Amino acid sequence: MLDFELSEEQNILRNQIREFAENEIAPIAGHLDETETFSVELTRKMADMGLFGMFVGEDYGGSGAGYLEYIIAVEEIARVDGSQAATVAAGNSLGIGPIWNFGTEAQKREWLPRLCRGEILASFGLTEPNAGSDAGHSTTSARLEDGEWVINGSKIFITNSSSPMAGVCVVQAVTGVGEHKKAELSCILVPHGTPGFTPQTMHGKLMWRGSDTGQLFFDNCRVPEENLLGARGEGFKQMMQTLDAGRLSIAAMGVGGAQGAFELAHRYAQERSQFGRPIGNFQAIAYKLADMATEIEAARMLLYKAAWLKDMHKPFGKVAAMAKLYASEVMRRVVHSAVQIHGGYGLMKEYPVERFYRDQRLLEIGEGTSEIQRLVIARHLGFKPVF
Ligand code: CAA
Repeated sequence: MLDFELSEEQNILRNQIREFAENEIAPIAGHLDETETFSVELTRKMADMGLFGMFVGEDYGGSGAGYLEYIIAVEEIARVDGSQAATVAAGNSLGIGPIWNFGTEAQKREWLPRLCRGEILASFGLTEPNAGSDAGHSTTSARLEDGEWVINGSKIFITNSSSPMAGVCVVQAVTGVGEHKKAELSCILVPHGTPGFTPQTMHGKLMWRGSDTGQLFFDNCRVPEENLLGARGEGFKQMMQTLDAGRLSIAAMGVGGAQGAFELAHRYAQERSQFGRPIGNFQAIAYKLADMATEIEAARMLLYKAAWLKDMHKPFGKVAAMAKLYASEVMRRVVHSAVQIHGGYGLMKEYPVERFYRDQRLLEIGEGTSEIQRLVIARHLGFKPVF
């Protein structure tokens, strides 16, 4: 029999994170967005809530929870603020994920406890100025010399990579020539502070303005040979597997963000009166809210199914791409309606719905654009669309 109930523990977790987000994040989210500030203090508070390393085993400093629990946590943070949800999502699925899944015992012991305590953050060094959707065509290179990798190149749009909390980056680099003369791609752990590794904060973002986004430069940056993550030549697959799971966090941000915008619109529709009655009493507005609630519910079901598949160790890549695609597009429709319901006030920064409207935009671009999600889904359906 299908069971749609969350467990008591999962409901308690949701309530705890919701209370934390409402008390600690909501009052300052607008200010952090306005001033484009990444808050170390708030990130440490999120770490104290156990928000980093939820799916990591307790032996390595994590909570040993399932992926669904982690997804619920991201959803609740996103219900209040996309920026802080981004810090948590990128810190976990993209930062901690590859080390937890592919790291050697020594690498796990070295990095995971500090990452799970939230002393430092890890980042995912995949995207390059000329290799975004075409992530297999990275040109950052790493050559072995005297027992060290010598790295040259650059990365762009890397979340959690340039704040004072940035501790280590998982860098995809070309380490040689593989089969059929294709580039051999490997992942290498590059600690912050390594000479030749320069992170630079990127400013002027439309969205997630309270999160940290960096551009990274590697100029003869040398790290020990042992910093190779897993096996040589496995880098692209490691990155793709990491993205399969990471896409669930983006879907959680879509569901949570849509829920937050819906609740703002719902309240506004009850408080705002025009033509002598609350605007929610007009069919045009009430039906909009009905559509919003329906789509959010459907997106949440798809997301939880994908997380359940992952927790059950069943193939989940196709449903994860579907959940990411659908939830981010649902949030687009929801924030559009939520601003519409707010009318002129929805265009003002004083009303948080304006921030939700901007934060949504990333979800259809980051961790694989909606076009790439459709490609991934189509391939799972047996098609090989030309792109
Ligand atoms: N899991 C494991 N292996 C995988 C895989 C997966 N999900 N997907 C592909 N592979 C393997 C393939 O099996 C293949 O292996 P073989 O060489 O042994 O046959 C190899 O990887 C190459 O695969 P493809 O031929 O499918 O590769 P492709 O070049 O056609 O590209 C792609 C595939 C799906 C388009 C991929 O490049 C992709 O996902 N692009 C989008 C990148 C992306 O999402 N970037 C987001 C960056 S992170 C971010 O945005 C962070 C943020 O903070 C917002």
